[in-house]
Amino acid sequence: MPYTDLFSADTGSFFRSPVRDIFKKVDLNSIYSFAGGYPSAETFPLDTFREIMSGVIEKYRGQAFQYGATQGVTELRKALSDRYGVPVERIQITSSSQQGIDVCTRVMVDPGDVILTSNPSYLGALQSFSSYRADIRGVSHEEDPVRFLRAYTDMIEKVLAEGKKIKFLYMIPDFQNPSGETLSLEERKILIRLAQEYGFVIVEDSPYRELRYSGEQIPTMYSLDPDRVLHLGSFSKIMAPGFRLGWIFAHPDLLDKIYVCKQSLDLCPPVFDQYVAAEFLSSGLLDRNLGKSICLYKEKRDLMLSMLEEHMPSSVRWTRPEGGLFLFLTLPETFDSVKFYDTALGNGVAYVAGAFFNTEWISGRRCPGKDGLNTMRMNFSFMSKERIREGIILLSGLLKESL
Ligand SMILES: Cc1ncc(COP(=O)(O)O)c(C=O)c1O
Repeated sequence: MPYTDLFSADTGSFFRSPVRDIFKKVDLNSIYSFAGGYPSAETFPLDTFREIMSGVIEKYRGQAFQYGATQGVTELRKALSDRYGVPVERIQITSSSQQGIDVCTRVMVDPGDVILTSNPSYLGALQSFSSYRADIRGVSHEEDPVRFLRAYTDMIEKVLAEGKKIKFLYMIPDFQNPSGETLSLEERKILIRLAQEYGFVIVEDSPYRELRYSGEQIPTMYSLDPDRVLHLGSFSKIMAPGFRLGWIFAHPDLLDKIYVCKQSLDLCPPVFDQYVAAEFLSSGLLDRNLGKSICLYKEKRDLMLSMLEEHMPSSVRWTRPEGGLFLFLTLPETFDSVKFYDTALGNGVAYVAGAFFNTEWISGRRCPGKDGLNTMRMNFSFMSKERIREGIILLSGLLKESL
């Protein structure tokens, strides 16, 4: 059957995740993997889950396995409302925050509309934006606030001069994927001012926010302007990704469109999982478990930083994240981390090439020196401390030989 003529125009803009392709090729447990964004399975409280699950079956009987409300079950929306101080009517449960990203894009973006984001940005979001044929424009981070404002203003003005419409700015303000960096309060305020001035929405994607190991918590962008910012949350990193549960906080008008859109996507988020998450959250067990996860990840982050310090060639730099699961390496400009990948994998160590998160590289706009080819994303949550140690020694040795 010749399917090619049957595919929609949108499919022409789908692109495969190079990260997921890596996972298909190798068994992550058989190599030193700094590649995935997986939480450590050690943080999944299996006995607690078992107890909560049987409690949910006792309490809700058949209702736990029935279709539920499209917005999500009341118990979970209420538990999130209590935790974050957001009114229940502003909360939509999603079947993962990846779905949250996708549904926002579907609701707001027509082909050719512009989505602004940081460069680099989260690959799964770039895939979703591209699948709706959005015009993705990335802005590289500037440390100095004046230059930060200028970089975003210049991009906005350039897009408007082309007669294009900016629908939203997608940001991961806390412990970004892939860079591990966090936006300062001043930077958050600058972006909100720009959104107000130029009339676009901000999509704040925050799956790592509660995994902070040092420094002070910074207000969410949503709390700074709840009517203009749409906030995406996730249970993946604070509970377990297998539940596929997330949430959206947004203005009721925006949420209503998302609600209707979600009816055609999945009718309702997984009901049993939502009751389990509601119980985990409202009983205080989530916070207890999160405390343990934070201790473990803090140790792993600190170990990773000290191993890099000790073993990496002096020409390599890296970010020092205050939380989350990743740090980002920058190598000399001539280095190509996409090409080097085969050497690394051949020797049993994996990372993700930074180019895969680069808006220019992903959009096929080749910009030598600006396409992130000399960068790498490194995860520090997944492997044991012992394997982190051995993996960094191995990778550093390989880099020393090739730099
Ligand atoms: C920034 C960002 N947003 C969203 C997601 C997707 O999370 P979820 O498991 O809730 O779909 C990820 C997953 O790694 C992520 O890094």
